[in-house]
Amino acid sequence: MEKGQAESEARDLRQSVHVVCRTEELPPGERKIVEIGGRTIGVLNVGGEYFAVRNTCPHQGGPLCRGSVGGTMLPSAPQEWIFGLEGRVIRCPWHGWEFELESGRSLFDPERARVRVYPVTVEAGKVMLHA
Ligand code: FES
Repeated sequence: MEKGQAESEARDLRQSVHVVCRTEELPPGERKIVEIGGRTIGVLNVGGEYFAVRNTCPHQGGPLCRGSVGGTMLPSAPQEWIFGLEGRVIRCPWHGWEFELESGRSLFDPERARVRVYPVTVEAGKVMLHA
């Protein structure tokens, strides 16, 4: 087992499960900001898919989960504009840093600038956050 994998599994074992709300209280397009153990985490329903993201932007601590969810311009040839990742990107409301909702990686420096993301499951009609 590699070191990174072992750390990831150890972190997963430390996570506990929290009930966020009933599914009908978090319809598509909505989000809830919850506080767990001193951390604020945004739980978002994007088109029926749930994501959970730490609500502290790694740039200057802005309320990341209050930002807009949308897409972004993809790398392309000069004079070519390709829009993509619709509904997969959250944009910090303070200075516009963008992060992939699923991985937490920033779009501009995915290896070094990232935000913590958490698993979300639905069990018995409840949205469950693993954090
Ligand atoms: S605090 Fe989020 S982009 Fe600056």
